[in-house]
Order: sequence, then structure tokens, then C-alpha cells
Amino acid sequence: MSQMWFEIQEQPQVLKNCLEKNQNTLISLAQVLKEREINHVIIAARGTSDHAAIYAKYLIEIKMGIPVTLAAPSVFTLYNKTLLFNNSLVIGISQSGKAADVLEVIRAAKVQGMPTLSVTNDEASPLAQEAQFHLYCAAGVEKSVAATKTFTSQIYLLAQLVALWSGDEAFKAELARVPALITQIIENADQVKNKVERYRFMNECFVLARGINYAIALEGALKIQETTYVRAKAYATSDFHHGPFAMVDDHMPVVIFAPQGPSLKDIHEMIQKLKNAGADLLIVSNDAETLAMGNCSLEIPSEVNDFISPFVNVVTAQIFACNLAKLRGLNPDAPRGLSKVTITR
Ligand code: F6R
Repeated sequence: MSQMWFEIQEQPQVLKNCLEKNQNTLISLAQVLKEREINHVIIAARGTSDHAAIYAKYLIEIKMGIPVTLAAPSVFTLYNKTLLFNNSLVIGISQSGKAADVLEVIRAAKVQGMPTLSVTNDEASPLAQEAQFHLYCAAGVEKSVAATKTFTSQIYLLAQLVALWSGDEAFKAELARVPALITQIIENADQVKNKVERYRFMNECFVLARGINYAIALEGALKIQETTYVRAKAYATSDFHHGPFAMVDDHMPVVIFAPQGPSLKDIHEMIQKLKNAGADLLIVSNDAETLAMGNCSLEIPSEVNDFISPFVNVVTAQIFACNLAKLRGLNPDAPRGLSKVTITR
């Protein structure tokens, strides 16, 4: 069994753990954010952690109406410049907690007296130590190079923070169901396993979504890239209409995340356009009509709404990538040219 598969299966327990471990920090941080009337958020992260940042951006902007900026850490490290942080919460996300450029963003924010938060899987790491608040993923050591459980714990903790900060009790209740929903996806992994054969020899594909699941299109594509070496490229369908669509030709594999919710209408339009162009569609959805539109489809639980669908979608993508890697004779735990911790300065 690969480490990646082992770690995918750990996710329901990891999410329960991380919530328990961070309950007090979440409550006191939400209190500080309310007291200081924080009206802007800046997030710095790289790779998978950057995709967690994009999930958080959608969530904070939709649930709170507070604008979220994704920082360009190179501004601090290459150009030796800082920003006017004003009244911002500044967040650094890094699985290892060693992201050097993210650390510089947190340091610069501290100089200006901003509340700072890090989200890492290592309590002793520089980022965990530097930020005023630390949310600990408590995911245990992640051995597989492809991040799985650290990503879901990052987004779970950030979502829990938004639920408390916004006082959205209904969202808190939805989040409580996430570990069980992920368990359902894992128990149903054969659904995915049985369908990867179709993609065994693909060299490239597009991965599409709209809205909050754009983060998952990016993360799903990254999982496919690093474990299978397929040139997977992610787009928001809203952007895919504007130019990239011209790359689609006959039999081009396209993965589309299409959960019920606000994105579905636009996704339907895209599906129709793609079908007309002869693309080969793998649709991930909980809507029967949408699932029927795919050349191949993967069903997610019906009771999943737009905000929590990223959890089940990403686990579906992880299982897809892991199984496709194995089918292609690759070891998903040890992609060529990569090591577990990549530090950008
Ligand atoms: C991909 C992966 C990487 C890391 C990235 C950032 O599966 O794990 O993209 O997310 O190298 O590293 P951290 O989060 O440790 O700063």
C-alpha cells in the first residue's frame, strides 16, 4: 500500500483531531478579529498551501464580505519591499512551517502590529513560532510527497475559523459532518479505482471548476501532475471561456467539478461547449442530470453543499491521482524531481 493511500484514509480522523486540538485558539482568535474589527485579510502560501488560501479567500469573502488578498511573497524577499497592511489579519500557510518567503510576510506584518496567524503541521517550525496565533494541523508526519491530509486539515481549520468569526452556526453544523462525508468517499474508493483505466495513457488534461471549487481544480490538477506526470492544467470555467478553450480538441480529457450550487449553471454551459468540441468529460457531481452528461462520472454525496463540497471533491481527486499513478507503474509517494519540503526564498 502506498503512503499516499494510507494518508488519504487518515483524513476523517485527522480532521476530528485538529478541531479538538485548536478549539481554544480558534475561539480566542475569532474574538480578537471581532474586537479589532478586522476588515481585510492577506494570505501568503505556496503550492498546495496556496490552494488552501484560495479556498479561504472564497469562504471569507462570501461569508463575511471581507476582501482577501493573496500576497506575492517575492515583493518582500526579491524586492525588499513591504506593504501597508492597514487593518488586516495576515495569514501564512505552510505544511512544513518552513516557507521562508511566507515567514517574511508574517514578520513584516508583525512590525506594523497586525494580528498574524500561521497554519502549519509543525508546532516547532519557524512559522508556527513567529505568528501571534498558530493553527496546528495535527495531521501526524506526512510521508508521501503529495500532500493530502495536511491540505484538508488546513482548509478545515480555516473554515472553522470563518464559522466562529462570522457566527454562522449552520456552517459550523455542516462542517461537523465533513469527516463522515470523507469516510463515505473513502469507503466508495472502488468507484474511482474502477474508472481510472480510461485515463491510463493520457498525456494531458484540463481540470475545471467555478467558485470555491476553483481551489480544488488547482489542487486536483497538482495531485495529478506530481503523481502521474500528466500535464494537467486547472482553470476556473469563467476564465476557460476566455481563450484557453481554443486548446480543446477531439478526445481531450477534461475533469469537471460540478456540485449542486451557484456554479452549476455556468458549468452546464461549459459542459455543452466541451461536448460540442468533442472533449472526453469526467464529471464529479452530486446532480443526477449533470452526472449523466459525462463520458465518465464520479458521484459525490447528495447532501453536500457548495461550501463543503471542496472536501469531498479533493479527496475524490486524491484517490483518482493515487490510483492512476499506480496504474501507470509510478510510485505516488516519490515523484521524480521533488522532495517533501520545497522552500522558496
Ligand atoms: C504538493 C505539495 C507542495 C507544498 C509546497 C509548499 O503536494 O505538498 O505543493 O504544498 O511545497 O510547502 P509548504 O506548505 O511546506 O510551505
